[in-house]
Amino acid sequence: MAEMARDEARVGVLLSGRGSNFVALYEAMERGEIPARIAVVIGNRADAPGLKKAAERGIRALHLPYRRASLEADEEAMLSALREAGVEWVCLAGFMRLLSSTFIRRYRMRILNIHPSLLPAFPGLEAQRQAVEHGVRFSGCTVHFVDEGLDSGPIVHQAVVPVLQDDSPDDLARRILAVEHSSYTTALRRLLTRRWEIEGRRVCFEPEALSGHGPAALE
Ligand code: GRF
Repeated sequence: MAEMARDEARVGVLLSGRGSNFVALYEAMERGEIPARIAVVIGNRADAPGLKKAAERGIRALHLPYRRASLEADEEAMLSALREAGVEWVCLAGFMRLLSSTFIRRYRMRILNIHPSLLPAFPGLEAQRQAVEHGVRFSGCTVHFVDEGLDSGPIVHQAVVPVLQDDSPDDLARRILAVEHSSYTTALRRLLTRRWEIEGRRVCFEPEALSGHGPAALE
């Protein structure tokens, strides 16, 4: 595996499926838009195309299934793989499992998720279908920190798309996906290049670019 520059954060990606957000993050890192490298990709499904895409790109790709017997043991396997890879930040990219509070505590305010709606509207599964059925005129995506709730952690970045009259959930999903990729890149870049802190639920960034991986106190 290529040597990582010292100022690059080490990111672990968890996914369950297609992996287009993972690829978008990877490509943004390759272009130098995010000062980070993906150290490992973990998938809970053996047939997740995202795992294959990782392996094709020379990234360590691990299939770690959930075995039902013990969530604790399954998560411990993921945690030790992340630890071994020296992971500092975890990006969920279509990871279809909820993480326990033990896992979340281990990477508190270092786990990001991307969700295909403007949270707090339409958390959970089939967010695009929920949006179409509700009749909202705009939807989008949200990159947020992961906390113990369902899609409920502090919001880092959002992007808006229109919902058109005749949209099917798939039409809307496609439109949202196009902004997901740039949003995840923007969110991670900001967190890694600016000072930030969390006030209540608000993620507050210091305006100008500074080095260092927050959080740090704002002056
Ligand atoms: C995306 O729509 C994301 O918002 C949601 O799951 C989907 C994953 O897509 N959490 P991909 O696997 O990254 O292509």
